[in-house]
Amino acid sequence: MSKLDNRKTEYISKIEKIKNPLDLDNIKTEIFGKNGFLTLEFKKLGNLPAEEKKAIALQLNKAKEDLTNFINKKTLDLSNKEIDQKLKNEKIDITLPGRTYFTGKIHPVSQVIDEVTSIFAEIGFSVEEGPDVESEYYNFSALNTPENHPARDMQDTFYLNHSKDLLLRTHTSPVQIRTMLKSKPPFKIIVPGRTYRCDSDQTHSPMFHQLEGLHIDENVNMGHLKGCLYYFVKKFFEIEKVKIRFRPSHFPFTEPSAEVDIGYKIKNGQIKIGEGDKWLEILGCGMVHPNVLKNVKVNTKQYQGYAFGVGLDRLAMLKYGINDLRAFFESDIRWLEFYGFDPLDVPTNYRGLSR
Ligand code: DAH
Repeated sequence: MSKLDNRKTEYISKIEKIKNPLDLDNIKTEIFGKNGFLTLEFKKLGNLPAEEKKAIALQLNKAKEDLTNFINKKTLDLSNKEIDQKLKNEKIDITLPGRTYFTGKIHPVSQVIDEVTSIFAEIGFSVEEGPDVESEYYNFSALNTPENHPARDMQDTFYLNHSKDLLLRTHTSPVQIRTMLKSKPPFKIIVPGRTYRCDSDQTHSPMFHQLEGLHIDENVNMGHLKGCLYYFVKKFFEIEKVKIRFRPSHFPFTEPSAEVDIGYKIKNGQIKIGEGDKWLEILGCGMVHPNVLKNVKVNTKQYQGYAFGVGLDRLAMLKYGINDLRAFFESDIRWLEFYGFDPLDVPTNYRGLSR
């Protein structure tokens, strides 16, 4: 066997053993590269006598052709192997359980805010908002709450500075003042929002939510207040027959003032609203005190009206049977999974409303 044939067989057996495209590329360079063994052999042709040249050139061309064919075959092999491997690795196991994906849930308080907003929007209330950090003037003084009123006490109110003129609002009522100062009557607004008091137990949390209502116009009387609240309670709890009780009370910013209780009973461990002989307080209300209207320059000879303040977290607890208020704000995702609402879960009686 000639020397050339030996080299060729050597290379062929090397190529046979190759397992990846990179090694194959290296071998190609070793053979056909600028200093590759065949390239050098071809170069040598020039120095040979003419009679030898032809025979050697024939041999070299043959070697070139054989090696090229062999390399091409190997390239195809390697690429087929790669595809086979890929198919094997990427095989879809249709017996594996499907991948679950989680959508977020709407917090019960957000859900209730949406619901009450829709209900009051239907009867002409628009939505206002105010800041959580308030001045004592808007939170107390303008609302006819005297300096010595217990609500102003450090035990109830989170003050933000020593001079006690900045605080976390203790109710949404200051937005009544802000709204009336910035425009002219009539006013018909609701104000959902966060409120703060130093208080914490099963039904009180230091941060909670209220909905304020204010309706000021000519000839608005207590009958309108009752009608409005009846309408709201019926719609919110989705019951026709409601038992509501107006109990005389006191608020500095209303005269007369009342608290509203709603009748309920516990049946099979579940709360039933609207029947039974138990009462639960859900809101405070009254006819807006003339001093409040004077503070915001509303003419009390021409205008009067009512206001109310509802505890939104309480409403959520009652309607959706949640018994510990503190869990609302613990951000436990399991709790939210259980009590939360699907984003498109609009209760039937609000369907068709533009929201
Ligand atoms: N601001 C009162 C509270 O937090 C609730 C309230 C009572 C609001 C009577 C009102 C009202 O607007 O008229 O307890």
